Amino acid sequence: MEIKGKHIYITGANRGIGRALAKAFHKEGGFVHILCRNPDDSNLDDLRDVDGYVIERLDVSTSQAIETFMNHLEDSGATVDIWVNNAGMLTGGLIEDQDMDEVYQMIQVNLTAVIHLTSKVVGLMVQQQGSKKIINNASVSGVMNLPLASTYTAAKSGVVAFTRSLAAELEKTNISTLALITPGIKTRMFDEISQRYGDKMDVSGLSSIPPEDYAREVIQAVKDDRDEYWPKGSVRWPLLLAQHAPKLFKLGASRFFDRKDG
Ligand SMILES: NC(=O)c1ccc[n+]([C@@H]2O[C@H](COP(=O)([O-])OP(=O)(O)OC[C@H]3O[C@@H](n4cnc5c(N)ncnc54)[C@H](OP(=O)(O)O)[C@@H]3O)[C@@H](O)[C@H]2O)c1
Repeated sequence: MEIKGKHIYITGANRGIGRALAKAFHKEGGFVHILCRNPDDSNLDDLRDVDGYVIERLDVSTSQAIETFMNHLEDSGATVDIWVNNAGMLTGGLIEDQDMDEVYQMIQVNLTAVIHLTSKVVGLMVQQQGSKKIINNASVSGVMNLPLASTYTAAKSGVVAFTRSLAAELEKTNISTLALITPGIKTRMFDEISQRYGDKMDVSGLSSIPPEDYAREVIQAVKDDRDEYWPKGSVRWPLLLAQHAPKLFKLGASRFFDRKDG
């Protein structure tokens, strides 16, 4: 898919992967709509007032905020060419210890909002001319289910399944989909993994790549019109094992996990 001149909307684009994607799409000549909870975020100071960027408020944690934003978009007659559902949050820990209020919020942000926004965006896109794309930022956790990540992995598996089903449903339309099986990326969320999981799991071997490098790979996947992005490198092997030999994967994962503290 050609990116130049396209209108791209990215949720959670004030930092991390979202911000890197915003800059990468802009570099390709896209007109980028940075959607974020706080448009005054100082992380965005270097992008403010630069041609080709618009910063807009969108908190995806409530159905009402999503409805309000999407109604405004529809009423303004905006063109939407590429929509990236990127905003996300992490949960984790032994299931009996997890804060269920936080889990409800995570399911809303990581899964329900993705479904809600996609429903509205598809409604807009089918009425507009030209090729369109919806990109959903899932995770390797969506296909590789690790202990302590049970709730996060439930949401991300949902995003993968949702996007695959949607791909079939949209096949004869002007809209394509791209599911991102995102590996470890060096962002605030990646740093949170060791805080949340570190006392019961050896996470020292987890690797991460800079968000800017990852954004370049996503841009290539968009240009190549791929329907899924799968990471390369060493994470490929546990991913294959998780998919094709889940018992072996579970055995391997248990070597890094101890229910006891410390
Ligand atoms: N980093 C990784 O290793 C990794 C791996 C696999 C998948 N992912 C996925 O990649 C996506 C981006 O994560 P990241 O690594 O860039 O993490 P990050 O640096 O922690 O950024 C998360 C982004 O989501 C936004 N967000 C959270 N709750 C929101 C809400 N209610 N409404 C709007 N925005 C909200 C945050 O906004 P605030 O600044 O306002 O909090 C922030 O912009 C997530 O979906 C994550 O699950 C990340």
